Amino acid sequence: MTVASEKDLIALLRIGKIVGLTLQHMLQQVEPGMTTRELDKIGAAFLKQHGARSAPILAYDYPGHTCISINDEAAHGVPGDRVIQPGDLVNVDVSAELDGYWADTGATLPVPPVTPEMENLCAVARRALDEAIKVARAGQPINRVGKVVEKLARRNGYTTFHELGGHGVGRHIHEKPSVPNDYRKRLRDRFEEGMVLTIEPFINNGKGRIYTAGDKWTLKTVDGSLSAQYEHTVVITRDEPILVTAV
Ligand code: CO
Ligand code: CO
Repeated sequence: MTVASEKDLIALLRIGKIVGLTLQHMLQQVEPGMTTRELDKIGAAFLKQHGARSAPILAYDYPGHTCISINDEAAHGVPGDRVIQPGDLVNVDVSAELDGYWADTGATLPVPPVTPEMENLCAVARRALDEAIKVARAGQPINRVGKVVEKLARRNGYTTFHELGGHGVGRHIHEKPSVPNDYRKRLRDRFEEGMVLTIEPFINNGKGRIYTAGDKWTLKTVDGSLSAQYEHTVVITRDEPILVTAV
């Protein structure tokens, strides 16, 4: 969507804050020994308490309130009986709706003991988010995001996924435009003032290839490699974007 009024912005910031707080709340509770279903329930209760509805359930009838993806699961991991283990790399992605407005955020948390590789992967993914946010301003080509993310990944010996990137959001969970994390020379779209979209770099320490697992939802890396993702919903301005999901 494009923000057209003060009312739009206030409503977006409201749901943005809720999903941001839900994500932080869930990450704070992550502990070895708990199942991903238990972690999801914590998120579900928090969303409900704030009057928000889970976006994946609302939009896709997804079998969980949030997505929890561990280790070789790159995204859309379905909460269930899986027990979080010491040394796991846990990604939590929270998206929800309130009063017709939608926001989306995500982050990756290494569970101790943390290897230098996990630490570095997360640091590069965080930096990719920061750098991508800096180039997301009105008038700039959207492919600048992919350019900086891919460049940073490569420089660190990592890759990103062709299939996973940012997207428009605001009146639905997935809207136009796409915000790829790999450089697409021929992509002509430009950022426009008021555009609401997600910036969500994925950084992978393998070949950057994924497949859909047997549960029809979870996206896993083909080579069993790890990935980290950090995501904010933003509103484009002529300067740096407004971070809708920052808390
Ligand atoms: Co997300
Ligand atoms: Co997203």
